[in-house]
Formats: sequence, C-alpha cells, structure tokens
Amino acid sequence: MEARISVLGGDGIGPEVTLEAVKVLDSIAKRFGHDFTYVAGDVGGIAIDKTGTALPQDTMNIVMGSDAVLFGAVGGPKWDDPKNKVRPEDGILGLRKSLGLYANLRPCKVYDQLIESSPLKPHLIKDVDFIIVRELTGGLYFGKPKRRWENSRGRRAVDTLAYSEKEIERVLRVAFELAKSRKGVLHSLDKANVMESSRLWRQIAMEVAGDYPDIKLHHMLADSAAMQIITNPSIFDVIVAENTFGDILSDEAAVIGGSLGMLPSASLSSLPPKSGRRRRGGKPALYEPIHGSAPDIAGRSEANPIASILSAAMMLRWSFGLHKEADAIEAGVQALLDEGYRTFDIANKDDRPLTTSQVGSMVAGLVKG
Ligand code: IPM
Ligand code: MN
Repeated sequence: MEARISVLGGDGIGPEVTLEAVKVLDSIAKRFGHDFTYVAGDVGGIAIDKTGTALPQDTMNIVMGSDAVLFGAVGGPKWDDPKNKVRPEDGILGLRKSLGLYANLRPCKVYDQLIESSPLKPHLIKDVDFIIVRELTGGLYFGKPKRRWENSRGRRAVDTLAYSEKEIERVLRVAFELAKSRKGVLHSLDKANVMESSRLWRQIAMEVAGDYPDIKLHHMLADSAAMQIITNPSIFDVIVAENTFGDILSDEAAVIGGSLGMLPSASLSSLPPKSGRRRRGGKPALYEPIHGSAPDIAGRSEANPIASILSAAMMLRWSFGLHKEADAIEAGVQALLDEGYRTFDIANKDDRPLTTSQVGSMVAGLVKG
C-alpha cells in the first residue's frame, strides 16, 4: 500500500528517535512491498524559535495532507520559563485537539528479558500486559476557564475539569471494545468520592456497561489505582481514565517494565479501525512515545528509540491495518533484546549499550518479511 507519513520530531531526543523509527518503517516497506513517503514538519520549541508558534500553519498543512503522524517529543529548559506566553507543549496539545484524538492507547507490557531491569520484584511483574486508555482531548488539560490573573488579594490561577457525557461515553466505548478483544476486564478510574466530573464518569461507565455484558467492569479510585499499579499490576487488562489521571499513571506504569524508553502510544479519533482498512479523507491519527524530550541526553546518541519504533508499529496496526508488519516490528524488538542487546536506559553495569542509531539499524535488520 501507499502511505504518506508526517514526521514531527520536535525537540530534544524527539528527532533522534523518530529517525530510527523511519529506518524501521523503510525496512518494512522494502520487505513487504509498501510505498511509504515521509514529510517532515516543525513542532514545539524548535517551531517557536523559527516562527513564534509551537504549531505553525505549514506543519498543520503537512499533517492534514498525510495518512498518519509520527511524533517525537516537545519541550526543554530553553522554553520553560513559566512567564512565557507560548509553550512547546502547545504543539502537541494543539495537534491532539485539532485532530480530535480523544483516545490515547498506552500499552504496558513487561519483556521477559527486562524483568531484572525493573525496580519491582520479578514475581509481581511477570506476565504484566495491560493497556491504559487515556482520554486525551478534554478534562483538566482543556477545560475553560484556564487562566492566571492578579487582583488586590494577589495572584490566582484556575484550571477546569469539565466533561460532556458525549466525551466520556466515546472514550469509554473505545476501552470496552479493547477489553472485548483482550481479556475482558476493564478498570475505570475516577475520584467519584470527591469530584462531580468523576461521578458523571462513573455513571456513564455503568450505563455503557449494559452494552457489554461480557466485560467485567471495575470502578477504582485513581489514587488507589496508583498503588495497585505498583503492588499488583497483573490484575489489570484495560484501564480507562481522565486525561490527567492517565498522564500521571502511564508514567508510573512505565516503571514496571524498567524504562520509559520502551513505551509507545497511539492517539486515535475513532473506535479502532477494522483490520485492512486504510483511512481515507478525514484526519490522521498520531503515534508517539510516552516519554518526553529528555534534553539532558539529547545529541549524545544515548536515547532509546524503541518507544518510537514501537509507536511506528502501532501506526501500521491501527492506521493502516498492517498487522503482519506491526507484528514483524514487535518481533524485531524482541529479537534484539533476546540477543542480549541493551540500550543506555536499561543497561546493567557490564553491558555495552547500543547507540540510538545502532538500535534502529539492528531492528531494521531484524524485521522479517
Ligand atoms: C505526555 C506528555 C504530554 C502530556 C506533555 C508533553 C504535554 O507528558 O504525552 O504524556 O502531558 O500529555
Ligand atoms: Mn506525560
């Protein structure tokens, strides 16, 4: 098949890791007979430096003309002054919102080869394989009012956690559908003991559950879930949560597998598309690592590109219905780890970790057509 992929590397290690994902996609194209073309655009801090905005119109045009977006990361100390009016993060937030990407899938899987890299006890994390469905275009991130001001009593600020029932229902349905295709267990997180938005969330979860009699739905308070993710992670299959809860808990979940550098994500605007179907017209989905721009290691060839490479696999699976190809990438990553290779973030004392570009080249060589 033919596909046009926009590549928005962004800041810090973003461009380094997406470069490796493209290497792997190229290898897939060659071995499976596809034609992928790539169009690069600026986003985040680098776009602010060039144009004064984190999401320039040029970039939006590139994105809208493409079938899927491969995103790196944005942000860095250079743009971090809280007094700044424009922020690199506006780039990714603007993309999520304008593309309507309300469902963010964040799989958390423990690789057997990396069990020893985890700070958690091996018996707790063996067989962990769950997926967080994070609501991505509403909640605390986008609710209005959202502003800072000053009056005679001093400085004040407000963020708003607002949801419509439609926004809650559609992301819950994605989670139920996913649970249906997996082990049939869904944990819906909220703070229904405190927040009105959570009580609405819980009520709608109960209503939608009526359409999914085979799914075991559990409501869990988000703070308690934070504890369970660390002490009892194997109870989870699918977790669904409000934007901010999902953000925080997915970083926490990344610890289970030993590194933030391994976890990909997919941001979708509809129920998972049926296999083999390619998006026509409409807006592209976006694929990005859950890690950030890691400015401390940028430019040192030490970044782990596996999260970006696995994000490319998710793109093939969810946007293009190329399941065999996605499987091939995932198997390539497995094979790399099986052969004993490690990246800087998961290296033991005696390992000689692979550089960013070595990882990309090796996985590209390991994908089998
Ligand atoms: C993430 C990141 C973003 C978020 C930042 C960069 C805006 O932390 O994708 O998890 O908070 O959503
Ligand atoms: Mn985050």
